[in-house]
Amino acid sequence: MAILVTGGAGYIGSHTCVELLNAGYEVVVLDNLSNSSEKSLDRVKELTGKTVKFYKGDILDREILNEIFVNEKIESCIHFAGLKAVGESVAKPWEYYQNNIAGTLVLVDVMRQHNCKNIIFSSSATVYGDPAQIPITEECPKGQCTNPYGWTKSMLEQILMDIQKADSEWNVILLRYFNPIGAHKSGIMGENPNGVPNNLMPYVTQVAVGKLKELGVFGDDYATPDGTGIRDYIHVVDLAIGHVKAVQKVEENPGLKVYNLGTGHGYSVMDIIKNFEAANDIKIPYVVKDRRPGDIAICYCDPHKAKEELGWEAQYGIREMCEDAWRWQKNNPNGYEE
Ligand code: NAD
Ligand code: UFG
Repeated sequence: MAILVTGGAGYIGSHTCVELLNAGYEVVVLDNLSNSSEKSLDRVKELTGKTVKFYKGDILDREILNEIFVNEKIESCIHFAGLKAVGESVAKPWEYYQNNIAGTLVLVDVMRQHNCKNIIFSSSATVYGDPAQIPITEECPKGQCTNPYGWTKSMLEQILMDIQKADSEWNVILLRYFNPIGAHKSGIMGENPNGVPNNLMPYVTQVAVGKLKELGVFGDDYATPDGTGIRDYIHVVDLAIGHVKAVQKVEENPGLKVYNLGTGHGYSVMDIIKNFEAANDIKIPYVVKDRRPGDIAICYCDPHKAKEELGWEAQYGIREMCEDAWRWQKNNPNGYEE
């Protein structure tokens, strides 16, 4: 039996393929490579000595999905495939709703036609909006998202919950990621953003490698100790291992489950700069800019539920996140491009 990993060539997907293969699972990847390179899957092979079966194609394409479910014995699906750039989603809402929502509806329809009713979905802390409480537990009410990307996550959570409610044969695990950063320790697999990065850590590493001049710190007047925004950064390998635990949970037929995947620790933008500088002995020049629209002051989770029910807990700290992000960037200044 195999695990179908949609979006498996991407940042979190490729790291998850490594952990699934190391745990003894067979892995089938479907990815249209719209935001990734097939080379990431070569690196998966290099790291594990095992191959994933790769289908280049789209989750909107019923034919290729049918082909996969006919050819492969798929037990569960980890569904990463989606567009994820917050700013782009404001400019291109139709594309985001079409790709993320319509794509997931097609995927789930083909899955049920082939009687595969186990799905682990990449959700996000963004569904909490401006959180009602800190640290954020899974019981915390979902909030108002500030962009179409966030709404696709919130709506897809609802859609998958409704599908599970109507048919109890479904097992649906919603994983709400906090802020994944870092890279595989080998330095041969990591985040490969297109163009100028939107997220903090890839921006920092591109400043460090000299591709960008300085970091803009988006606001220093938040109600936080140093005035900059606080997030729950989690090492991508820890996040990947969380998916293996979720696959194991699905084997218990849990019905619907929702888990936060974070460390439970909050770091400010200034903390990240200082930790990166200390871990790697590199100065990160920065300038303080205006707040970024839609940003919140503080977001970190209570990760206890995942510990109790999945037996999962983040192992890596901020130093390793900074060291590993830098090792990847330094060794691969242009990501997977030569
Ligand atoms: P990524 O862009 O690196 O990976 C997504 C992959 O999906 C890419 O390889 C892309 O080519 C593929 N894809 C997109 N649309 C597709 C389609 N229609 N058909 C087939 N493949 C398609 O992003 P990531 O950071 O690895 O994120 C993975 C998932 O986790 C996404 O759903 C994202 O929204 C979610 N998530 C990410 C973060 C984060 O900070 N990285 C936080 C919370 C949630
Ligand atoms: N920041 C800067 N400068 C930058 C980039 C970011 O100061 O150049 C700050 C932001 O203002 C924020 C913090 O760094 O305070 C983190 O910002 P990111 O863009 O890295 O991450 P976000 O918390 O804004 O959002 C990310 C993903 C979302 C996801 C969310 C929760 O982009 O898709 O984490 O998982 F929903």
